[in-house]
Amino acid sequence: MAVGAPGNEVVLETSRLLLRPWRIAEAVVQRELWTERDPRVPPHRRIDADGHPTVAELEDSIRTHEVWTTGLLAVERKASRDVVGYCGLVNSGHAAGEPELAFELLRRVWRQGYATEASLAVLEWARSSGYERLWATVWDWNTASRRVLAKVGFTETDRKEVHAVHGTTLFATMRL
Ligand SMILES: CC(C)(COP(=O)(O)OP(=O)(O)OC[C@H]1O[C@@H](n2cnc3c(N)ncnc32)[C@H](O)[C@@H]1OP(=O)(O)O)[C@@H](O)C(=O)NCCC(=O)NCCS
Repeated sequence: MAVGAPGNEVVLETSRLLLRPWRIAEAVVQRELWTERDPRVPPHRRIDADGHPTVAELEDSIRTHEVWTTGLLAVERKASRDVVGYCGLVNSGHAAGEPELAFELLRRVWRQGYATEASLAVLEWARSSGYERLWATVWDWNTASRRVLAKVGFTETDRKEVHAVHGTTLFATMRL
């Protein structure tokens, strides 16, 4: 099954979270994630000098990009019913049928185990969808993300891509 294939709308439930398709009105949350990104993250993933992407542009992206429905799911806290980030799978350039796990949460909810909890649900979803192997890429300086990947079962490989300004990208993988 291809990540992002139409007709695969997904809802995953954990003890504290629901992972489900993004709603257009939640583009404001995506904008907040953009504004909070670490200054070491490359410019194309940060708000530019003219304020792009705007909320309207992110709304358009939710409307038109299947990834926000069947790939990178909105992470909603069940108790407070607020969306605090995303977690899910994206097609990667690694190998056909071996997508990448990705997650990003608002700073105010960090260090409460949400990324780990959401990732475990996504791994189960990937397993039941028939995937045999997943990848993840992470900046070497991103201790929290590396820790989450290790906790859910990823192993860092020898593959690295060194970038002069932003740091080194590490490649991690896991068999399901
Ligand atoms: C990565 C991210 C999603 C983690 O979310 P989270 O909900 O805080 O993660 P969890 O609480 O499940 O686990 C975080 C782990 O990292 C550890 N950690 C967090 N910050 C840390 C730091 N600065 N130094 C060392 N360890 C750290 C926590 O202690 C925890 O490990 P533990 O359970 O062994 O104590 C969040 O930091 C984030 O959104 N970062 C920005 C986006 C990003 O980096 N995405 C991933 C790209 S590869």
